[in-house]
Amino acid sequence: PRKLRIAMMGLGIVGGGVWRRVADHADRFEIVRVMVRSPEKYIDQGYPEAILTTDAADLFAAEPDIFIDVSGPIEPALGLTRDMLSRGVHVVSANKQAIAAGGQDLLDHSAASQARLLFSSAAGGGMPVLEMCLRERGRIARVEALLNGTTNFMLGEMDGGMSYADALQIAQDRGYAEADPTADVDGHDAAAKIRLVSLLGFGKQISPNQIERDTLALVDARKKPGTVLKRVARVSADTGELIADLRLRALSPNNFLAKADGEDAHAVFDFTDGDRYVIRGKGAGRWPTTEAVLADLYDLSNETGPA
Ligand code: HSE
Repeated sequence: PRKLRIAMMGLGIVGGGVWRRVADHADRFEIVRVMVRSPEKYIDQGYPEAILTTDAADLFAAEPDIFIDVSGPIEPALGLTRDMLSRGVHVVSANKQAIAAGGQDLLDHSAASQARLLFSSAAGGGMPVLEMCLRERGRIARVEALLNGTTNFMLGEMDGGMSYADALQIAQDRGYAEADPTADVDGHDAAAKIRLVSLLGFGKQISPNQIERDTLALVDARKKPGTVLKRVARVSADTGELIADLRLRALSPNNFLAKADGEDAHAVFDFTDGDRYVIRGKGAGRWPTTEAVLADLYDLSNETGPA
């Protein structure tokens, strides 16, 4: 049986995890090319020099079946994702900023070329938040979730008396934070995920400035005795109009979202018929995110091959 050929961009926390897990499934997949900014760094870490490149043209030349984007910045990721889809290459992306920026246009590219665009790892880490959005679209009234593991971890530690700087440092050391962690604390990361929830769950593309957001600077102002402070991402169509925001909220300790500790990223889905679903899981870190990427790869492998 033919193995699926993978071209990948990025070899950071998630990329390194994907590299290792794909090696466990060498019967199904083969990583043929990886685009990185500084190959020397990865050669020193033991990655084979022959597969590393700084040139996107090499990714196309490798004739991949699948492009995996585990890079952080919007570009070149967005352009490459669009080009890969146009050429019929399936895309598995963990790059929430690029997918949020591309939005409906990327979904249209995917539909036109019949190349699949999967990004379950882009919001909620190992939690099936986006899968729920897709499956239940049309009946979702409101989604409330903790979508940034770094902040959730920091809020918990700061509540226990740790300083902001120490809590952030540990979140970085544990691999929860983005390469530039201001994206986590200022809400830029969660805002991208909110846009993905809006796109898939409500069929609406929203821009970052439509999302009111609280930074962690408001922690002291929002704290109330006997409550648990969480930064809650909300996308709601309750009133007929779509509302999306990211607010520091003092929750009752009994609230499901209040019970998410550390890098957890619980989510609550309320449906128009009054039903409620809750999801519990790990929202950040190498392995939860890597497993979500692997799940997308299995889906592709089951759909397309090996023949
Ligand atoms: N920096 C992100 C977070 C990683 O803390 O949630 C997962 O998307």
